[in-house]
Amino acid sequence: MDRRNFIQVSAGAAAGALLAAHRSSMAQASSQVPGAIPEAEIKAARFPEGFFWGTATAAFQVEGAWKEDGKGESIWDRFTHTPGKVKGATTADVACDQYHLYAQDMALAKRLNQKSYRFSISWPRIQPSGTGAPNMKGLDHYSRLVDAMLENGLRPFCTIYHWDLPQGLEDRGGWPNRDLAGYYADYAGILAKHLGDRITIWAPFNMPWSFTYMGYGVGAFPPGRANFGDFLKAAHTVTLAQAQALRSIKAASSKATVGSAYGMCPAYPATDSEADRAATARYHAMNNVFFLEATMKGRYPKAFVGDPPYELMGFKPGDEKLMLAPLDWVGFHYYTRRIVSDASHVQAFGGGGFAGTEIEADPATGRDPYTRFRAVMPTEGPLTESGLEVWPRGIYDLVTQISREYDHPIIEITESGSGYLDAPYEKENGRIPDTRRIEFFREELAELARAIADGARVRSFHAWSLLDNFEWANGHTERYGLIYVDYRDQKRTIKDSGLWYGRVAASNRLDV
Ligand code: BGC
Repeated sequence: MDRRNFIQVSAGAAAGALLAAHRSSMAQASSQVPGAIPEAEIKAARFPEGFFWGTATAAFQVEGAWKEDGKGESIWDRFTHTPGKVKGATTADVACDQYHLYAQDMALAKRLNQKSYRFSISWPRIQPSGTGAPNMKGLDHYSRLVDAMLENGLRPFCTIYHWDLPQGLEDRGGWPNRDLAGYYADYAGILAKHLGDRITIWAPFNMPWSFTYMGYGVGAFPPGRANFGDFLKAAHTVTLAQAQALRSIKAASSKATVGSAYGMCPAYPATDSEADRAATARYHAMNNVFFLEATMKGRYPKAFVGDPPYELMGFKPGDEKLMLAPLDWVGFHYYTRRIVSDASHVQAFGGGGFAGTEIEADPATGRDPYTRFRAVMPTEGPLTESGLEVWPRGIYDLVTQISREYDHPIIEITESGSGYLDAPYEKENGRIPDTRRIEFFREELAELARAIADGARVRSFHAWSLLDNFEWANGHTERYGLIYVDYRDQKRTIKDSGLWYGRVAASNRLDV
């Protein structure tokens, strides 16, 4: 049995229904690229009427205008202005200049037949140092942006926090400081009060595990701390913050629905051993559903060997009541998968290197002494230019797993995409033939359609991203857009993938 077959078998056994649900497709696909989806399934795939086809962006990655209209400094401004932090020595001071070009970008989204636009609000535009009275110029900007979305038939999907913490709050201790939960809930309440007449879809945090772990656990992202205790404290503050924010949003806007934008990777045990299966369950608990379980059930899932290190987390009696704030719908991203093994008997622990959207543990070590697993991204399927393995079936496994575990919630796919560097081709009038990205979405979306056909209540898909943008510490060395951006003059050119995605959105099918 090769590893792929083994993974299928072990994941199927662990999850019960997976194998039964899986069709005979792998036998056909095995003669092709590993993980590839047969053409017949792509042709047959259909999406429901009224499905929200969308794209996603984040304020820091697209807006630019980094100190305009009273905006304060964010931790990402500080980080990108520090030499040695960003590949290519670029900053996001201008990025895609969407702060000024938003009307054009929303019109482009309409041209691609989009129905939903997931964007984020920059906290330091609203509260320059993180607390106190709102900066009306910042609120006015987002009010105009939301109007532009509505004029173009786009559902405004607001992420309240996509990583750009006001530096003033980092100076007060950052996310490990429990006070931030209250400041954050105030900020969320301000947004709901001023924009809640038009925004009804709110996601408090983008990828809470990632920014707390990368920022405080291993230091790959700002503020650059590498301390597992700080990560745990930050994570607990964020848990309290998402629940408090849900309450403050709903108090300010009766139309509000609140969900999430968690980063998730379906996890498969490295071997069939009980130890590896248990480690895989810990990975899922820590990386995928830590914050979801906390808000839905008022308790943390079993992410640790033994009891959660409550003291290290800064957990106080009564917190289980504060944490509980059931979501109206569940949103998550899918990019790639993980193979997980037990690290209970490993002596060395390290954070691992930074690869693409995620931290990979160094295979020689375990990640930390509490979760005691080792998680790696396999390289069996093809790799994108950003270095992530393409594994279309992962989205089927993830969606069906979350549906099962959380009693069939409404699901929003908040992000998925692939980094390829295709550029305008002069001999064809500057057209951008990014066929690998089209292939990525065709196969993945066929698997999403299969999950929907099998009963998952998925109502949206947001491609990352509407346009190429500032890829965090990787600067401009990665391009995820359906639209190409020339950073020299901000010219936008729709890639072939964008034209294709527009046809998909118009027809709810993939053979277009
Ligand atoms: C993040 C985006 C990022 C994308 C590609 C996602 O996980 O939310 O901000 O650009 O990955 O790396």
